[in-house]
Amino acid sequence: MNVPLLASAEGERADRDAFRRDVLAGLAASPRAIPAKYLYDERGSALFDEICDQPEYYPTRTEAAILRQHAAEIARLAGPGCALVEYGSGSSVKTRLLLEAMTDLHAYVPIDISRQHLEATARRLREDYPGLRVDPVTADYMALHALPDTIGKARRIGFFPGSTIGNLMPEEAVLFLRRARRLLRADGALVLGVDLKKTPQQLHDAYNDAAGVTAQFTLNLLRRMNRELEANFDLSAFAHDASYNEVAGRIEIYFRSLRDQIVSVGGRRFQFARGERVHTEYSYKYAQAEISELARRGGLSVASSWTDPSRLFSVAFLT
Ligand code: AVI
Repeated sequence: MNVPLLASAEGERADRDAFRRDVLAGLAASPRAIPAKYLYDERGSALFDEICDQPEYYPTRTEAAILRQHAAEIARLAGPGCALVEYGSGSSVKTRLLLEAMTDLHAYVPIDISRQHLEATARRLREDYPGLRVDPVTADYMALHALPDTIGKARRIGFFPGSTIGNLMPEEAVLFLRRARRLLRADGALVLGVDLKKTPQQLHDAYNDAAGVTAQFTLNLLRRMNRELEANFDLSAFAHDASYNEVAGRIEIYFRSLRDQIVSVGGRRFQFARGERVHTEYSYKYAQAEISELARRGGLSVASSWTDPSRLFSVAFLT
């Protein structure tokens, strides 16, 4: 009876050890950086959901509108009886737009690193779509090499929405596409959401919302280090720092020290000069031609793509 509890306690310890190791290495490095995945603890995930509702953060609602408008065509391109495989499914909110249109799916396979999240989502989907086979896979989708046998010979249609691909370095994005191509097999396809290049001002505003939710999201990482790594960051002595680097075509996000200070983290002391920054995220933006090029390097090609009237966001069907 205790086994699952023990397993989850062990899992938590391993996660915390990895967090400590990555933070200490990242703060000792030059330039300083902490991997973006650590932004998403429970509060971080809730704050990200809140970011998606901010008026300046256009990607979520724009992508949803594109999917809503073109779901029937996506379902037609996917064909009957296929398996929908979602990378990093979270709470599968956008998936529902596809599930409504793909009425004769063989199975829905959500892949996510968070087992709890995944199981709760699978339960809700089974309730809301009786008859839909939901086969969740707990895994890091960058390292996944096989899907459940239950998929059988069904055509595999990947779904990677939200421009999460933009949080990968371009070389990692190509590697992701190559792995997806292998996992989805030669007759498969990938529905990919990508944020498009636009004016620096629009991009700046999307990552510096007036309500300060994105700032809270970044600074939540300091709060997490205080709680999980016995750190003593003074949250009022650091600021969220997000700007668009037009040459690199990416939003760059950091937390910045507002004064000279020393902070203890995991039993070690780190000096921060006033103005010094610690990198937390990149969010790459692509032009349509760059999406085609990325797909090509990943061994795929753009069979169809859709955008919104203001050309803010693109959803591509890659084969
Ligand atoms: C999850 N990802 C696509 C978001 C983005 O826009 O790059 C993460 C984010 N960070 C701050 N705001 C949004």
